[in-house]
Amino acid sequence: MRMVDVILRKRNGSELTSEEIDYFIEGYTNGSIPDYQASALMMAIYFKGMTEKETARLTKAMAESGETIDLSGIEGHIVDKHSTGGVGDKITFITGPLVASAGVPVAKMSGRGLGHTGGTLDKLESVSGFHIEMSKEEFIENVNKNKLSVAGQTGNLAPADKKLYALRDVTATVDSIPLIAGSIMSKKLASGADSIVLDVKTGTGAFMKTLEESRNLAEEMVNIGKNLGRNTIAVISDMNQPLGYEVGNANEIREAVEVLQGKRIADLRDLGLELASHMTVLAGIYSSYEEAYRGLEKNLDNGKAFEAFRTFIGAQGGDTAMIDDLSKLPSAPNHIEVTADTDGFVAEIDAESIGVAAMYLGAGRATKDDKINHAVGITLNKKIGDSVKAGEPLAILHSEQSEPNDSIKKVKEAYRVSSEQAPKKQLIYEVIK
Ligand code: URA
Repeated sequence: MRMVDVILRKRNGSELTSEEIDYFIEGYTNGSIPDYQASALMMAIYFKGMTEKETARLTKAMAESGETIDLSGIEGHIVDKHSTGGVGDKITFITGPLVASAGVPVAKMSGRGLGHTGGTLDKLESVSGFHIEMSKEEFIENVNKNKLSVAGQTGNLAPADKKLYALRDVTATVDSIPLIAGSIMSKKLASGADSIVLDVKTGTGAFMKTLEESRNLAEEMVNIGKNLGRNTIAVISDMNQPLGYEVGNANEIREAVEVLQGKRIADLRDLGLELASHMTVLAGIYSSYEEAYRGLEKNLDNGKAFEAFRTFIGAQGGDTAMIDDLSKLPSAPNHIEVTADTDGFVAEIDAESIGVAAMYLGAGRATKDDKINHAVGITLNKKIGDSVKAGEPLAILHSEQSEPNDSIKKVKEAYRVSSEQAPKKQLIYEVIK
């Protein structure tokens, strides 16, 4: 087989065979197929798309290109949750303990943040002592004992995707639905869960800006999961503004814990319960979504979910005094208000700009070797639909510097205040099964 013929066939719109897809993934992973030919194929796929069968095969080949995690030592049905990425997305810290509180094992492998979205591991490391390095045996033991553990992703998980994602990033081929679906699902399949709940974000702060594109991505991923033997559900949720009110590492842990302690932050509570309900139904703990929702809501309100989070933090070396007294979490020395210029109503908050502003403060990484500052971040005082008076704070920046001008400018640009009241954003659009 010659790679040039594979490229030619895709360029001309043909369906690639399983052998051709396997040949490409194997050759690209071991270095015998060069970047320039892989780039040409990615661009051909970008324009010509892939059939359901091709996408499933690509995903399988990428999932099997490296290590696959064997979680058979864990008792019970393991359900994984994955978000396609958003600003202020601390939902894992709510769904994880909720699902664990119902007795369902959560064995999560997470990554670090790059660019404007924060990483789960970085946020957890705001709690001093918390560590994600552990042997596979410790990880499994932790999950069996506490029902919840989070580990760093191993270096050799889906290496074909790692190489291809880096290549797509610099060849303008990231935003292709089959390629995104294959990339995400290959890592999920290699991480060994029995079932998968996907939180597919839609809106200005998401990869997919329109509901239609998000639905296509969600359907594609659900099909791949089912084709490859994993029960998969996708919830399409809003990312037209950050989730909750806090952005930044310690800030997000603080806000998630407040929700676990009973604070009513509507979007976080509702989305956390929604995802956890689907996860526990897939695990067979509840027989219907409604029953799951009621049961989990009880565990949120009676403190069981909070207790599950506290136990998990302690089991991985974290200082639980910081969870019991949130003022002990890292905090920045300066708190700078970004105020509204006019009276009106918040019509838009560009989530990506808020994420970039937080990154400028030091909450995220511009390059993968940057060091994170856990204490800095942004508190949104106003969300879409809220009224505001001129001079009132729209947001507060928690900063090491007294005048973080780049971040102030970015936050100002993110907010659009209008004289007319915008409707509140819907949080959950659709569930794809
Ligand atoms: N996240 C991934 O892991 N892969 C993509 O292609 C896009 C988002």
